[in-house]
Amino acid sequence: MACCNVETIFGLGNIGRKLQVFPSHNYKASVISCVAVGPSQTPQVPWKLVFHEKERSLLSNEKYGIYGGKFVPETLISPLTKLDYEFNSALRDPLFQMELEVTLRDYVGRETPLYFAQRLTDYYKSINRGTGPDIYLKREDLNHGGAHKINNAIAQAMLAKRMGCKSVMAATAAACAKLSLECTIFMGSLDMERQPSNVLLMKHLGAKVKSVNGNFKDAVSEGIRNWVNDLETSYFLAGAAVGPHPCPTMVREFQSIIGKETRKQAMEKWGGKPDVLVACVGSGSNALGLFHEFILDQDVRLIGVEAGGTGLDSGKHSATMARGEVGVYHGAMSYLLQDEEGQIIGPHSIGVGLEYPGVSPELSYLKDIGRAEFSSVTDEQALEAYKRLCRLEGIFPALESSHALAFLGKLCSTLKDGEKVVVNLSGRGDKDAAAVFNHTPKHE
Ligand SMILES: Cc1ncc(COP(=O)(O)O)c(C=O)c1O
Repeated sequence: MACCNVETIFGLGNIGRKLQVFPSHNYKASVISCVAVGPSQTPQVPWKLVFHEKERSLLSNEKYGIYGGKFVPETLISPLTKLDYEFNSALRDPLFQMELEVTLRDYVGRETPLYFAQRLTDYYKSINRGTGPDIYLKREDLNHGGAHKINNAIAQAMLAKRMGCKSVMAATAAACAKLSLECTIFMGSLDMERQPSNVLLMKHLGAKVKSVNGNFKDAVSEGIRNWVNDLETSYFLAGAAVGPHPCPTMVREFQSIIGKETRKQAMEKWGGKPDVLVACVGSGSNALGLFHEFILDQDVRLIGVEAGGTGLDSGKHSATMARGEVGVYHGAMSYLLQDEEGQIIGPHSIGVGLEYPGVSPELSYLKDIGRAEFSSVTDEQALEAYKRLCRLEGIFPALESSHALAFLGKLCSTLKDGEKVVVNLSGRGDKDAAAVFNHTPKHE
């Protein structure tokens, strides 16, 4: 079933309204230039753009197979196209690249280590008759802020500044504070309850934190809705690899530093490539960040691990690839958790950041062509993996990343001795310490 679930944020009706799927070129008809030619006749469209041939070549491809695109009303086509143009111009600007490189080094703390987890390796070897892979962790938890999100957030905040935007609807407050941008964070009320320390930190960083009834998906909707109200001076900073084009492409591009560093570090450490890359999948930004560099290396396996929640048959999970169907949500086509009528099925995971009903268009495509594999682990398995890493390596992983770690339990026994596995440790888990404690039996 290919159904279209277009959110109310785009003014196209109720959540769950079934629409016919249109190919993206239907939307391109209204796309136009980078030269503002004054207000259009429709008051809601702030400016109309006319693209010349040379500028058009700077626009990136908006589809991955059938996935991605811009399923948005006309009001948003010009702003999104302008964003695509500005993004591609920045990528080709040596000054922007140099500033980004310096910021990633001196502010974010890159490069992050590729750490050999000796005791974790020994643990899996000990339960697999003394044989198994060498396990390495790509330490995105050591980034400023404690997660991979800052790689993209700082780059997009720089882009917002370059575009002359004053305020940002964002997922990460630190980048906005650094660049002196007004920042509004929309956060699901349920997530605020589960991550109170994050809320406090965002406030200390000067962000306005607005509570949105629901969870992450509702917060994304509210962020876009607010952006639509002020397209001239505000910037919607997508932290997840979802939304209409170019949002997922930008997020992937700015996260791809993870894989680029991994290739270089693997060469330095063992003189080759990794055999298997493993990453958890919420929207797909940390997974694509690690995978993208290796997509053309067919000898490198790419494995995404989704949140199996309380079990795939329980209905309480976020396993979009395993149980989703193709649909449109937040302006793009991807796999999507939806019911027979195209209504979104509320996702669940103990890892708050994995709770999203859709997934990146690019990952959806990699699944279809068989380039990436997907699996899932339960809340319980993720909790066990969290505790295991704490005790064996003295590292506390985010519960999201713990899903990737938990998959080692299935993977290691299938691999040869000495094969190299890289797990993306997407974030650190102090934010989750209370949740893990509350799920731990008193005697442990
Ligand atoms: C530490 C961490 N890892 C993973 C994720 C999942 O997101 P994504 O799949 O986009 O990397 C999140 C989301 O908030 C996160 O905070």
